[in-house]
Amino acid sequence: MTPSAAVVPPLSIEGLHFGWGQGRNALHNCRLQIPGPGLWMLVGSNGSGKSTLLRLIAGLLTPAEGRITCQGRPALVFQNPDHQLLLPSCGSDLQLGLPEGLDDGERAERVASALAQVGLPGLQQRPIHSLSGGQKQRLAIAGALASAATLLLLDEPTALLDPDSQRDVLELIHRLCHRSTSPLTALWITHRLEELERCDGAARMEGGAIGPWQSGESLRRSLAPLPAGGPER
Ligand SMILES: Nc1ncnc2c1ncn2[C@@H]1O[C@H](COP(=O)(O)OP(=O)(O)OP(=O)(O)O)[C@@H](O)[C@H]1O
Ligand SMILES: [Mg+2]
Repeated sequence: MTPSAAVVPPLSIEGLHFGWGQGRNALHNCRLQIPGPGLWMLVGSNGSGKSTLLRLIAGLLTPAEGRITCQGRPALVFQNPDHQLLLPSCGSDLQLGLPEGLDDGERAERVASALAQVGLPGLQQRPIHSLSGGQKQRLAIAGALASAATLLLLDEPTALLDPDSQRDVLELIHRLCHRSTSPLTALWITHRLEELERCDGAARMEGGAIGPWQSGESLRRSLAPLPAGGPER
C-alpha cells in the first residue's frame, strides 16, 4: 500500500517570543499550527498580541526566539484599507504587488482575475477614492490575490464596515478558502463574535499566548454565555 502524502500545515509556529522593548513581552512562547486550508479565526482582548503575531508571520517583525514556518506567501490585510491602498486607480494599485518576472499580458491577466475574484470585475481604471469602504477592503484582498499569496492574514478586516459589507467580505474570504482548486488559508482576527459562525476553527489569544483550536460556536459560547432563560442577543 502506498502511504498517503503527508499534509503540510500552511502555517506552523513554535516557541515564539517577541517584545517591543518596554515591560512585558507581547508574545510568550506562542505556538500555533494551522492544519490545512480554510478560515481560521483568533479572538482576544485588546493588547493580547494579535496584531503583533500577524506582523511577525508577515515578516514585518523579527522574533526574539522561536520559529515560524509558512507554506507559500503570506499577505496582510489591515482593518483600514486606506492604510494599504497606495496608488490612484484599482489597476495601478494591484500592479504594484504583482510578482516579478511576468510579461505585460500576464500582468494584465492577473490584475483582471484578482478583480473578478473579489467581485470588482473591470474596475482597473476606477479611482480608488470613488470606492465604498467595503469595495476598498475587497480591493485590498485582490492585492493579496494578485501577489500570489496563499496565506491571508486579516487583522479585523470588517471592523470599519457596515453590516452588509462586513458579510460580503466574510463570505468572500470563506469562498476563497473553500474553493475546490487551490483553496487559500486565512487567519482572521476579530472582535465580532458573530463572525465565528463561519470559521473552520477558532482560538483565543490572551496575554501573548494562543489557546487550542475549538469550534467557532464553542468559543463564542464561552466568551458570551447566554443569560439563563434569556434570548440570544
Ligand atoms: N509599535 C509598538 N510599539 C510598542 N509597543 C507596541 C507596539 N505595537 C503594539 N505594542 C504593544 O504590544 C502589545 C500587544 O499589542 P497588539 O497590538 O499586538 O495587540 P492586539 O491584540 O492586536 O490588540 P487590539 O485588539 O487592540 O488590536 C500591547 O501591549 C501593545 O501596547
Ligand atoms: Mg490589533
